Amino acid sequence: MKDFKEWCWVVREWVEETLQSRCEKIQEEIPARLAAAMDYTLTAPGKRLRPMLVFLGAEACCGEAISEKVRGDCLCAATAVEMIHAYSLIHDDLPAMDDDDLRRGRPTCHRQFDEATAILAGDALQSWAFEILTEISDSDKGLRCLRVLTRAAGCRGMVGGQIWDMFLEKGLKRPDLSALFAQTPAERLEMAKMWGESAQTLAAMQDRKTGALITAAVWMGGILGGATEKQQHHLGRYGQHLGLMFQITDDLLDVSSSAEVMGKEVGKDAAKGKTTWATVLGVERSLALLEHLHHEAEMEIQKGKFSHPHWLKELLNWTIQRKN
Ligand code: IPE
Ligand code: IPE
Ligand code: MG
Ligand code: MG
Ligand code: MG
Repeated sequence: MKDFKEWCWVVREWVEETLQSRCEKIQEEIPARLAAAMDYTLTAPGKRLRPMLVFLGAEACCGEAISEKVRGDCLCAATAVEMIHAYSLIHDDLPAMDDDDLRRGRPTCHRQFDEATAILAGDALQSWAFEILTEISDSDKGLRCLRVLTRAAGCRGMVGGQIWDMFLEKGLKRPDLSALFAQTPAERLEMAKMWGESAQTLAAMQDRKTGALITAAVWMGGILGGATEKQQHHLGRYGQHLGLMFQITDDLLDVSSSAEVMGKEVGKDAAKGKTTWATVLGVERSLALLEHLHHEAEMEIQKGKFSHPHWLKELLNWTIQRKN
């Protein structure tokens, strides 16, 4: 397939169909209101970035013509990571967190249903995701994927990042944040020299809040596509850079875009006094950081010597240019 857009369309179709049919099937087994709330956010129009990253990671290692077996396993991992992502969005929007009314172009889950139902729909999507990973045909690879996704979703990853995000609302100097650096890679510590300590703090938080799931997605793809240890290493660093690039654009779009284009409210970060790239570096320096990370991520692609690196590169371009 020559065109990246066409490739994205095809993969998105596979993922959408799978999500849809899983939701239809589970309806028969669970309370109707819970099924409706899970389906409501999961099958709403999202970009499906994380599912696509699973396929990107696999194809980078084993080439475009992945076997039926690998494709089926990738669909399990892609579905699982999208479920974790959808759960994180439902909880992120709750009144106790960002208190948002609009998500994926619709009222947020707690607005459409109620808070208790939204909390439980998020919980249910989370555990369902892990159940689906156990369906991966190669049990060794399945276990490795399970380890990657549980770590990325939990306290060392997304959940840990979300609570630091809440601290950052109250200012960057809180002592609790020292724990952020306990497992921060040297290159993030280097950021302080180039972009200042606040940028380093923000990057360390966002590596977890957003980067962890994005990295997990491309890593699971690598596992399923048979990546070498060296390739896994470079895919991981690629994912980390991409995750930060993705959150930088999210922060900037919150300032410059509209609810119609984004499908979610904008201007909320400033209204809630959040610490974001817009407040820490301003728009111009954030764009410079974006370029810097783009370059770093491209270097990782080169070093990984992948058999099909093209879409990994295209996704970086898409991230920089994205409008929603
Ligand atoms: C939104 O993620 C949350 C962030 C990490 C910024 P996406 O922008 O990928 O949301 P959807 O999946 O397209 O709705
Ligand atoms: C949330 O980041 C990331 C998640 C773990 C869901 P944001 O709070 O910036 O995401 P949006 O802007 O609401 O999508
Ligand atoms: Mg948030
Ligand atoms: Mg939010
Ligand atoms: Mg945001």
